[in-house]
Amino acid sequence: MSQNASAVTLHDRIFVPYVGTEELESHVAALAERITTDYAGKNPLFVVVLNGAFFFAAELLKRVATDCEVTFVKLASYQGTESTGKVTEVMGLSEELSGRHVIAVEDIVDTGLTLHGLLESLQKHGPASLAVATLLLKPRALRHPVVLDYVGLKIDDRFVVGWGLDYDGLGRNLPQLYQEST
Ligand code: IMP
Repeated sequence: MSQNASAVTLHDRIFVPYVGTEELESHVAALAERITTDYAGKNPLFVVVLNGAFFFAAELLKRVATDCEVTFVKLASYQGTESTGKVTEVMGLSEELSGRHVIAVEDIVDTGLTLHGLLESLQKHGPASLAVATLLLKPRALRHPVVLDYVGLKIDDRFVVGWGLDYDGLGRNLPQLYQEST
């Protein structure tokens, strides 16, 4: 990673500062407060989708003030195109979801395809309830039918990095969001 003024260069692309740390933290704190209220006494299980959601999950969970548990999964996708659908297999799920109140934690929802597949897979395990928390939402998200219970913030339809999100492996460690420069 090389830095030029406040912009960052990752591989061949330039990214400019987009959403600052404080603003991100305040959105996450608001989500955590809602989750704390909604899930008091329910011992929810957070299912964090790796790799991208690790950063958001850490910020969110440290602010959730009721008993909860956390587990991590990876998604294997097949047939990469948006039109062919049929995508997601959940790998590494070690907890029993049956009868649990599950909250899937995602970094970003773009078309909703990934999330749609994830929710279908998780639903098969028979959770008592299934909700979604995503840090970011892009405007195209309505292409696939997903219900988003907890959304941090809505962003423009441009590629972003930072707070766990990467461009070809780089940028996950950036402490704020950057947007691809035009
Ligand atoms: P969807 O299936 O179209 O909703 O895409 C969601 C996935 O695409 C996310 O889990 C990310 O891995 C990736 N993605 C979408 N937009 C971005 C972005 O702006 N930056 C980094 N990754 C992104």
